[in-house]
Amino acid sequence: MTNVTIGVPAERAADEQRVALVPTIVESLVGDGFRVLVEGGAGVAAGYSDEAYREAGAELVGDAAAAHAGATLIARVSPPAADEVASLTAAHTVISLLDPLGDVARTQRLAETGATLFAFEFMPRTTRAQAMDALSSQATVVGYHGVLLAADRAPRLFPLLMTAAGTVKARSVLVLGAGVAGLQAIATARRLGAVVTAFDVRAAVKEQVESLGARFLAIDVAGEEQAGGYATGLDEAQHRLEQEALARACADADIVICTAQIPGARAPELITEEAVRSMRRGSVIVDLAASTGGNCACTVAGEEIDIDGVLVLGPSNPAAAIPGTASDLYATNVRAFVRLIAPGAELAPDWDDEIVAGALIARGGAVVARRVAERLAGTGGTT
Ligand code: NAI
Repeated sequence: MTNVTIGVPAERAADEQRVALVPTIVESLVGDGFRVLVEGGAGVAAGYSDEAYREAGAELVGDAAAAHAGATLIARVSPPAADEVASLTAAHTVISLLDPLGDVARTQRLAETGATLFAFEFMPRTTRAQAMDALSSQATVVGYHGVLLAADRAPRLFPLLMTAAGTVKARSVLVLGAGVAGLQAIATARRLGAVVTAFDVRAAVKEQVESLGARFLAIDVAGEEQAGGYATGLDEAQHRLEQEALARACADADIVICTAQIPGARAPELITEEAVRSMRRGSVIVDLAASTGGNCACTVAGEEIDIDGVLVLGPSNPAAAIPGTASDLYATNVRAFVRLIAPGAELAPDWDDEIVAGALIARGGAVVARRVAERLAGTGGTT
């Protein structure tokens, strides 16, 4: 067996500023015995020069095809662009966020290259997998940034201030969905001095919300938790009940941060257009679920919409907006997974390991992940 070479192409998606490996992580992987090829310019948007990678022990290459040609493991942030797929072969193992259920036709095309595909989205949310949990690391960045976006666009400060020129009232922030991004949004809004209320269908998070100093909104709906702690969708009656209760809560809020998601399905629509129109002028909604359809009926991914003086922001790739921290954390997740499948810098995945098996999307030219295969066959559910 020979030591593994890791290739890091520059990300091509228009709004993608992250990079899969950062120099400090490259240095430790080189120390493990890996060889690392980095496409020139790959880290620039995240604040890392080619020189920094070189000093960390990486070799710089001219384009993605060269990064692929010399490598066995390909570490990336988002799915390869169409022209990058052409230089992937059965000799490659790709580790990335691949949005495997979001575009199943693309997942199939990727599988047909013969490459072994691992997607962070399918990694089990277990304690053992925590160091590899890129969904969590990126959601932390997203929740934090979402609140800053709102603070930046809002016409008023967040905290209670008593000044000689008068008293500034604390703003009221409503956070929908209290998973990883939502909890970070609550903590960030609290740090900025806002009064925070939050809601999640998983009643289990009430305590976590309260421990961050926020109030948990009492709505009599209860979603079920599926394996891994994820929420399942609500039935139609419960969904309506939630929308009505949230319409009342929105009318009292200055800022709404939306983070509610159902893995593998469209994000639940929680705020109707009517509810948006009932909000005060100058209110801001930041819909962090925009890329999966949005929690607000008025959200347009990648745009800022003004509805009667209420701003609705739908950032399409919010983690990429803070590319330095997002890449640092992501690279740590990549390293943990690389070490799992290539101990001693030799590629030797234990196919029976629940993390390896969970994250595996395709191998030997075929999609092997059940949820993707079902979706391709038209038999998959929404979750
Ligand atoms: P996510 O991004 O899929 O969803 C965000 C939140 O939206 C979830 O809390 C979900 O309950 C909520 N939601 C869904 N439908 C909703 C609705 N109709 N109204 C209001 N809220 C709604 O979830 P995320 O943040 O990725 O975390 C999912 C779960 O995984 C959590 O239970 C979390 O504690 C668990 N987890 C476990 C880890 C571990 O044990 N290592 C690590 C990270 C997360």
